[in-house]
Amino acid sequence: MPSTTTFWSHIPRPMVMKRFSAPISSYVSAGAQGITDPPARVGFLGIGIMGSPMAHNLLKAGIDLTVWNRTKSKCDPLISLGAKYKPSPEEVTASCDVTFAMLADPQTAVHVACGKHGAANGMGPGKGYVDVSTVDGDTSKLISGNIKSTGALFLEAPVSGSKKPAEDGQLIFLTAGDRDLYERVAPLLDIMGKSKFYLGDVGNGAAMKLIVNMIMGSMMASFSEGLLLSEKVGLDPDVLVQVVSQGAISAPMYSTKGPSMIQSLYPTAFPLKHQQKDLRLALGLAESVSQPIPIAAAANELYKVAKSQGLSDQDFSAVIEALKSKIQHSETK
Ligand SMILES: NC(=O)c1ccc[n+]([C@@H]2O[C@H](COP(=O)([O-])OP(=O)(O)OC[C@H]3O[C@@H](n4cnc5c(N)ncnc54)[C@H](OP(=O)(O)O)[C@@H]3O)[C@@H](O)[C@H]2O)c1
Repeated sequence: MPSTTTFWSHIPRPMVMKRFSAPISSYVSAGAQGITDPPARVGFLGIGIMGSPMAHNLLKAGIDLTVWNRTKSKCDPLISLGAKYKPSPEEVTASCDVTFAMLADPQTAVHVACGKHGAANGMGPGKGYVDVSTVDGDTSKLISGNIKSTGALFLEAPVSGSKKPAEDGQLIFLTAGDRDLYERVAPLLDIMGKSKFYLGDVGNGAAMKLIVNMIMGSMMASFSEGLLLSEKVGLDPDVLVQVVSQGAISAPMYSTKGPSMIQSLYPTAFPLKHQQKDLRLALGLAESVSQPIPIAAAANELYKVAKSQGLSDQDFSAVIEALKSKIQHSETK
């Protein structure tokens, strides 16, 4: 067993940047003093739960924004606020300096970036592609290779934070890839987020995001068990939420989601199908370095049960329903 010092000592420290508090005009004027000017024309592909508020914040900051989504109607509120629309990812990237993509999963991210009329077709030297979807490192490297073969730059930048932080411009960006592009889009990341980490080579941002969501998925599964057990032994689960919220294990997730979970309500902020996808990808990441992650593996099984119960599009806190069905099953034996 290595000592703590030697175990971690080979890991390089990331560069952490807090958000700038200045308005966008300040970034532009600060260009001559070393802060890179933000790109003039910005594209956004994927107007879902996360993409919509992120694009909205860019628009509110006065950015010249062009959007695309598979289901066009989700672009309409942004178009009514002044966003331009193009009918394919290729046409968005062809008309923009930098394009962000916020897509469901690895398959979709590859399809939108590299498929027919995909983003890569409109890319070229001087342009940049920033994929903020949660995918695995191999997918990110595949997309990076396709984008960079056009002469453009690539940055992976998955986000920590859910619907509300996206609305509030409080996301945390976990970036890796072309450092020049990172510098260039920093003012845009600061509009959408509260901090950003630059983690080096493509794949490191994806890995960091998967580890964060692996922890979160296990936390939610364990919290669900606690809520149900408290009820079963005659305690008030609302009081459990209060106790947890005041102690060392408190996390905003418990106090925001606990009360609705107790009422069997799961308004979607983070779809359960995406949480299960992230656990599946985290299992693959751990497998690639032969590390056991038994707690995450058990949690993954629970999310799979919840998906089979038709809960994919509910919030991930609906995983508690999978536990309820297991309890009912054990009671009928
Ligand atoms: N929600 C969160 O709290 C959260 C937080 C951090 C990270 N993330 C990650 O962010 C990404 C997006 O999450 P979200 O919550 O915004 O999910 P979402 O609402 O389900 O949005 C998914 C997006 O992907 C598009 N899409 C799905 N399948 C497609 C296909 N076959 N071809 C083209 N486009 C397709 C959807 O288009 P349509 O509108 O046409 O379906 C939509 O724009 C995921 O990788 C997720 O893991 C989510």
